[in-house]
Formats: sequence, C-alpha cells, structure tokens
Amino acid sequence: MEEPEEPEEPEEPEEPEKSEEPMEERPAAEAGAVIVTRALTKRYRGGQLAVDGLDLTVPAGSVFGFLGPNGSGKTTTIRMLMGLIEPTSGSARVLGHPVPRGARAVLPRVGALIEGPALYGFLTGRDNLLRYDAADPTADPRTRRTRVADALERVGLAAAAGRKAKAYSLGMKQRLGLAAALLQPRALLVLDEPTNGLDPQGMREIRSLIRELASDGTTVFLSSHLLDEIEQVCTHVAVMARGRLLTQGPVAELAAGTRGRLVVTTPDTADAARVLKEQGAGDIAVADGDRVDAEPPDRDLAEVSAALVRAGVRVRGFAVERASLEDAFVALTGEGFDVAG
Ligand SMILES: Nc1ncnc2c1ncn2[C@@H]1O[C@H](COP(=O)(O)OP(=O)(O)O)[C@@H](O)[C@H]1O
Ligand SMILES: [Mg+2]
Repeated sequence: MEEPEEPEEPEEPEEPEKSEEPMEERPAAEAGAVIVTRALTKRYRGGQLAVDGLDLTVPAGSVFGFLGPNGSGKTTTIRMLMGLIEPTSGSARVLGHPVPRGARAVLPRVGALIEGPALYGFLTGRDNLLRYDAADPTADPRTRRTRVADALERVGLAAAAGRKAKAYSLGMKQRLGLAAALLQPRALLVLDEPTNGLDPQGMREIRSLIRELASDGTTVFLSSHLLDEIEQVCTHVAVMARGRLLTQGPVAELAAGTRGRLVVTTPDTADAARVLKEQGAGDIAVADGDRVDAEPPDRDLAEVSAALVRAGVRVRGFAVERASLEDAFVALTGEGFDVAG
C-alpha cells in the first residue's frame, strides 16, 4: 500500500533564509543545535584575521565552554553571534535564525554579557537594571521591579543595589552585567569571560549560578581563558587558538581521548623510573620524593607492575590517573595552555 505523501515542512514564519547549503546536507547534530557557525571568519580592518573559518555546533541544553588564550578570537566570535559586528565571510545561526540578519528575532531570547557591560556610573546598580529593562520592548513593566530585585539577589548584589555603580568593584560590575542578562527567562545565555575580575569566592558563586541556570534548561555558552573553570562547569568545550578551532565536543570525551598518566608511588623512585623505562613507558618524571609518573607503555599494566616488584621496587601505589582537559590540550597543541596574550 502506498503511504500518503508527507506534507512539506512549513517555511520558517519570519526571516526566511536563502540558504547557502541545501537543508538535507546539514548533519543531524545541527537539528538540536542552538548555535551553528559555518566557516565563520572575521578579518578586522587593518588586516588582522581574528576568527578563521570557524565551524561551531552548540547543542541545546549544554553548558558550552569556549576556551582559548587571550587574543584567540572568542570575543570577536561572540560579537558576530550577537549581531554586533558583521562577519567577513561564512555564516552563523542562533536559535534557528541567521545572524546578523535575524538578530532582531533572536536577541530577546538571549541574555548576553559581553566584555565589561556598559554601565551608568552615576546610577545605582538597581537603577541601571531598571533602565536597562525599560529599554527592552519585550519586557513587562508591571513585573520590572520584582524581576530586577530577583536578578540582583541571584548574583549576590542585593545588599549593594542602592550604591552607585561607579563605586562598584570590577567583580561587582561583572555581576551587575550578569544580572542584566538574567532579567528575563532566556533560551540561551552568552557570557564572555563571566568570572573576569572576580576573586575565587566570586568565581565559585558564578559557577554555581551557571550550573543552576543550566539545570533550569537554559543553554549556556561561556568563554574563558581558564582551563579548570571550563572543566569544572562545562559539559562541552571548543578550544580556540589564534582564531582557529582546535577541537570541540563533550568535555568527558575530549579528556577520555587522551591517555592518562601512570603513577607509581614508591620510596624507590630511581629504581622505579629505570624499570618503567625498560617497560617502554615514556616521558618519565619523578616528583615529591615518592612519586614517579609516566606515559603508560603499550602493554598489559599487570606486567609492568610485576616487573617493578621483581626488581625489588617497594610499590605503595600503582594507578592510571584520568586525563584532565589540560592533558588533552597539551596533547592537542604540543604546548601548555598559555594564558599570556
Ligand atoms: N576592533 C578590533 N580591531 C582590530 N583588531 C581587533 C579588534 N578586536 C580584536 N582584535 C584582534 O583580534 C584578535 C582576537 O581578539 P578577541 O576576539 O578579542 O580575542 P579573545 O576574546 O579570545 O581574547 C586579537 O588579535 C585582537 O587584537
Ligand atoms: Mg575576549
């Protein structure tokens, strides 16, 4: 029996796009994606290539870390995603709409904090938010005061809400910017270095706030030059260096794709190091007087441990430590994660 033909998918109601690539050639992963870029490129006037052919896919519901040293192109990418600057070439879609063309439809559903929020120093923190909210035509004026109070509470600024913003520390200004992004429920939060200028306690608070927002179902896209910050809070990561994407994917997969370190705890470090070398381990390092770690050799680790015992090495501990994101980064770039820009 013949199946009746499926009706055609209805066109997007607004901002229909003249697609550069036919729909059916788009990978399935893009269907649930909140941000998709294709060969996104920005060359600043003066010739500086800040973002170079970026293909990014940010899944819905992820906490997506956009990681890279200073100058690697994170803020430039975010400014293109928010329709603040035009790409030189390539394309980007946010919440299903092309940007910058469809930015007007997208931006009310996105909370953004980009590089030092613009604040009026002569206004209090609270008045800054009231004013910011009043400028948003989609915001309900009847709930404005409550929403502003809630946002201030959420970022820990309730007590300082009546002080002028010019008296705020850098960290407090950063929180006020974050509060502005939280005035309405959002499908997507885009946070450019949200913990910049915060002390360790403030950083912890922002991290737990991000986790909380993500558990409410908000997709969070945050940039950072701090590797362990990304590792602590993100489900996914994209790694940038010099305007180019090195890798992207779930944090756990990236770290798992990198081999962990073999760690032997023993008072006989010199003998242990020699035996590990004979067993084919690489990159052997002795630390803390009783710890030898190495790249695990390509053989059964039971044999390695037996060889240590045979050689009279007193083994207190023998383990393969899980690779960190930093190990993955080093494996990827052949260099450490250098934050100096
Ligand atoms: N407005 C601009 N004009 C020219 N070059 C710029 C401008 N903004 C940034 N750049 C350059 O583009 C590169 C990427 O910068 P940026 O996107 O700010 O990186 P990140 O946010 O990762 O630190 C850097 O080399 C930077 O100097
Ligand atoms: Mg930046």
